[in-house]
Amino acid sequence: MPETRKPLVVAIDGPAAAGKGTLAKRLADHLGLPYLDTGLLYRAIGKLAQVAGLDLDDPQAATAVAERLAPADLGRPDLRGREAGELASRVAIHPGVRAALVAFQRDFAAGPAGAVLDGRDIGTVICPDADVKLYVTASAEVRARRRTDELLAKGRDVAFEAILDEVRARDARDSGRTEAPLRPADDAVVIDTSALTPDEVFARALAVVMARRAG
Ligand code: DC
Repeated sequence: MPETRKPLVVAIDGPAAAGKGTLAKRLADHLGLPYLDTGLLYRAIGKLAQVAGLDLDDPQAATAVAERLAPADLGRPDLRGREAGELASRVAIHPGVRAALVAFQRDFAAGPAGAVLDGRDIGTVICPDADVKLYVTASAEVRARRRTDELLAKGRDVAFEAILDEVRARDARDSGRTEAPLRPADDAVVIDTSALTPDEVFARALAVVMARRAG
């Protein structure tokens, strides 16, 4: 009889620019699991609301956009940058926006093999029964330094101090909101990536996954 593996759900949360996207993709590839970048959902809502000239701080307007979100919206080319991240963080405070996205994320996680999802509230709200919960973090200075270096490498003219201010403002909004604030789940394994290479982060995360799988 071929061995049938139980589905595996891996929830990865943490602040902006901590390296969770890189880790989540790599883990998903390695484990052969589908991957959902949940930040993309909020980014698409923020961008669609902005393009439509809506007030992002208006809960009803933002919720209406969230309720009409279609898979094709996630393929927009303008969702990756800092501006879309900022728009996402603003619409993400509205309870109606978050509620509109719950079923989609849970359905994704409930696939036959399981899934890797990254975001801010995966281990606390979306998948509280996830098999593995990781909270990936790093100091604001380290995250801002990494982001500044990435942008400089792309030839962008950016100042570390400005990026650090952005990182801190995003942390404050994501952690300070009433609905599903960013925080580690009580049973999450915290990985502080400040002094680790991406390979070391991956090795630690994989060790946690394998230990859970083993029993
Ligand atoms: O992970 P990211 O940088 O793409 O996320 C952009 C913003 O979206 C983030 O600052 C807050 C919001 N977000 C959220 O509130 N909950 C999630 N699960 C994912 C993202």
